[in-house]
Amino acid sequence: MSEPATIGIDLGTTYSVAAIVENNRPRVISDTGGGYTIPSIVAVDDKGNRLVGQAAKRQVLINPIHTVYGAKRLIGRDIQSPVVRKIQDHFKYRITSDEHADVLIKIRDEPYGLEEISAIILDHVRNLAQDSLGREVNRAVVTVPAYFNDRQRQAVRDAGKIAQMDVLRIINEPTAAALAYGFGKALHQKLAVYDFGGGTFDVSILEVRDNVFEVLATGGDTFLGGVDFDNRLAELMIHRFQKEHGIDLFKDPICHQRIKDACEQAKIDLSSRPETRIHIPFITMGPSGALNIDYTIKREEFEQLCEDLIGNTLVACRQVMADAKLKSEDLDAVLLVGGSTRIPLVAKKVADFFGKAPSKGIHPDEAVALGAAIMADSLARKGESEIQLLDVLPMTIGIKAAGGKMVPIFPRNSPYPNQKLKVFTTSKDQQQSLKLTILQGDKATAAENEIIGDFTFSGIHPAAKGQAKVEAVFTLNHEGILTVAARDPDTGAARESVLQIQAAGHKPIHPDLIVLKKPMEKKAGETVISATVTREVKLKAGTAPPPGPETAKAPEKTPPLPPPKPQPAKPVRPAKESALAGLISRLKRLFQRG
Ligand SMILES: Nc1ncnc2c1ncn2[C@@H]1O[C@H](COP(=O)(O)OP(=O)(O)OP(=O)(O)O)[C@@H](O)[C@H]1O
Ligand SMILES: [Mg+2]
Repeated sequence: MSEPATIGIDLGTTYSVAAIVENNRPRVISDTGGGYTIPSIVAVDDKGNRLVGQAAKRQVLINPIHTVYGAKRLIGRDIQSPVVRKIQDHFKYRITSDEHADVLIKIRDEPYGLEEISAIILDHVRNLAQDSLGREVNRAVVTVPAYFNDRQRQAVRDAGKIAQMDVLRIINEPTAAALAYGFGKALHQKLAVYDFGGGTFDVSILEVRDNVFEVLATGGDTFLGGVDFDNRLAELMIHRFQKEHGIDLFKDPICHQRIKDACEQAKIDLSSRPETRIHIPFITMGPSGALNIDYTIKREEFEQLCEDLIGNTLVACRQVMADAKLKSEDLDAVLLVGGSTRIPLVAKKVADFFGKAPSKGIHPDEAVALGAAIMADSLARKGESEIQLLDVLPMTIGIKAAGGKMVPIFPRNSPYPNQKLKVFTTSKDQQQSLKLTILQGDKATAAENEIIGDFTFSGIHPAAKGQAKVEAVFTLNHEGILTVAARDPDTGAARESVLQIQAAGHKPIHPDLIVLKKPMEKKAGETVISATVTREVKLKAGTAPPPGPETAKAPEKTPPLPPPKPQPAKPVRPAKESALAGLISRLKRLFQRG
């Protein structure tokens, strides 16, 4: 039996792609039918069979309500978020939430978490790769949009765990594309990677020095992609049809799906032709018989309809160039990645913006998976990769201060791995605990940013206000995932400092995300516990409950610590069977069923 393989997986919104390095050459893995893009779609049919990938895509028209696509747009999101509210209009499957506001999708009355859906897709990609390679696949590097926040990255990590896949590393999609372009070529170049896929847009500016890939700035939108172009066209068709026949096709899930499919095809046609016909026979019944959709659309019309979407990507490009402090002439190459860069107006506007023709050196559909495979191979062979990826944070991470302001800890574009120490003082006499609400986003007020976790430190020694201190260390690992640790620097040997992450109303579904390690120098007899900040984690307080957590006072000093050595976070499993283990066994049942 040959050795298990390690692959790279581009877990896309619309399509996923797997790749592998063999004989020092990266290549995409095609399935037995020769195709290599795998629809990121999961469905359950009326007999209860689970369908994934092509099989799920084939039946979407007859089963739109129980077919889940575009799940990547929902992963790591709150049901209350504007993004989720917007998406509900376009997706025909049922989006609900549990009592903690976590998004769930109901398929045939069974609720699925977004991590579970992504786990099913990862498992399917792995199975196809195994069939194609003829050997076991147990490890992977998985890519995520550069613009994913901490919570979304955590969710993809969870998906890997549920699929029982050893995810060696999560890397950013544009960074992976740059790896595919530049690895092993001894380049010394500055690159812009413009990655416009099915559901997300990312732009990163990188500097490549041999095998060091340093991201200088990153930006984007996790809610902007090819499906928005399809939706624009579909809305136009529905509007025209309603004007003509007085019938709203939007309300019928099957009609709507047929229109969206036809519009996606029309969009693709318009990339190579000046006009195309959208013809859908027997879309519905009118008073005098069956009605068709039959419209011709010109490329210019389509471009006018969608120009603002492209304009939004250029706003992000302008911002990253300013953040990287570069001018177009400083760039050596512009890479186009993702299916939506095939739209001629996209390619033209990007070329105009950066003042140079995009490089032909990479394949827009394959580059991300190939880069992930290069990283996977390097990690699998060397343990520590010979490739150095120095990435940056897409959005500021900070804490909520008194008065509701956001106080940055790591500003946008901070490099990671990274670590910062903040010292807080008590604002009340005898204050025993300190609550930090950790946020991510670039808005000035806490309320406008995304909460990624509540972190409570209890066990501050009793003292008059302003006398006791808490030192908190914020660590971003090599995947951009945050952990927080804290201690009371003045407590003696007998005192124990316990960190508590409060669930803030969120269910403890992933208790084994808790990372127990000792990131700080430890005084004799003192226990310092750190935990991954996640909204789902609920830790029992180790000491008496704090007398109401206090809001953090703005940090008084921020001496930088030397950057930590990148080291994989090692989850320590709690003694009891975790809720995640429960999920895994449920998933196993589901996998067997399919
Ligand atoms: N020739 C083409 N012209 C226009 N759009 C195209 C063309 N070919 C593919 N697309 C679009 O590209 C998108 C898929 O691109 P891609 O596979 O890069 O996305 P993804 O990896 O699934 O998504 P993401 O990277 O956003 O998670 C779809 O919206 C598809 O309609
Ligand atoms: Mg993609």
